[in-house]
Amino acid sequence: MFAGRIALVTGGGGGIGRAVCRILARDGARVVATDINSKSVEETVSMLVNPGEHVALSMNVTDKASVESVVKATIDKLQAPPSLVANIAGITQDNFLLKMEERSFMDVLDVNVKGTFLVTQVVTSALVEHGITSGSIVNLSSIMGKTGNIGQCNYGASKAAVQGLTKSSALELARVGVRVNCVLPGFTQTPMVETVPEKVQKKVLKLTPLNRFAQPEEIAEVVAFLLSDKSSFMTGSCVEVTGGLGM
Ligand code: CAA
Repeated sequence: MFAGRIALVTGGGGGIGRAVCRILARDGARVVATDINSKSVEETVSMLVNPGEHVALSMNVTDKASVESVVKATIDKLQAPPSLVANIAGITQDNFLLKMEERSFMDVLDVNVKGTFLVTQVVTSALVEHGITSGSIVNLSSIMGKTGNIGQCNYGASKAAVQGLTKSSALELARVGVRVNCVLPGFTQTPMVETVPEKVQKKVLKLTPLNRFAQPEEIAEVVAFLLSDKSSFMTGSCVEVTGGLGM
């Protein structure tokens, strides 16, 4: 499905990002797996089909120079910029609004929103420069960006912003052949959700009609669909993959 395509994945060392790397590699893409944690992303690449075909790079999505150096390294190693991008890198720093530190509010916005913006801008500029006229970008939002969540005024705001960023990007980038969509996962079995107190996890399960959390692959399959030509008439869409939570 992705033969001959280069795919950049951010947050590639973590739960959903790692699953996205595995599915893209399974379906024939050459994957540039990136993460701020270089050890985790090297581990991801070692798990992929034909690991020698893929690249693991350390990248800080909040730092434009770091994003530019990854795109340059991709062009050097694989002879073209990535025409598929999965913006999965994201963090939480949960606390009640009345106790939230200004730093925690801004750090979450920096990674989740500014990071998605920078990667989109740098990659799309490279595509235009190289005369590549078709690309697909998928951003990871969250159902919390639609419903809000107790303890997540920063994260909820950031994931709502990702939806606005997705739609603005889709409007602007259609004319250079780049589609931009986003996915809103519900609770997914990843290290991020493992930090949620058990009593809160139980409350969330009660509100989830399918009565379980997603496996990372169930989110990653939808990301892969939106990256692929199977979704060729979709742009600016925000797709919920939540087991019915927050519908
Ligand atoms: N939904 C419902 N109730 C919640 C809640 C939530 N998200 N968060 C906290 N509460 C409730 C607790 O159950 C508790 O209720 P009781 O008084 O009845 O016991 C009350 O609020 C106080 O909570 P804590 O005792 O845990 O208070 P704390 O000060 O020790 O911690 C907190 C506060 C840091 C917000 C902590 O409760 C917490 O981490 N909550 C979870 C927040 C959350 O849902 N994060 C999602 C992370 S996963 C993710 O973000 C990925 C994604 O896209 C889905």
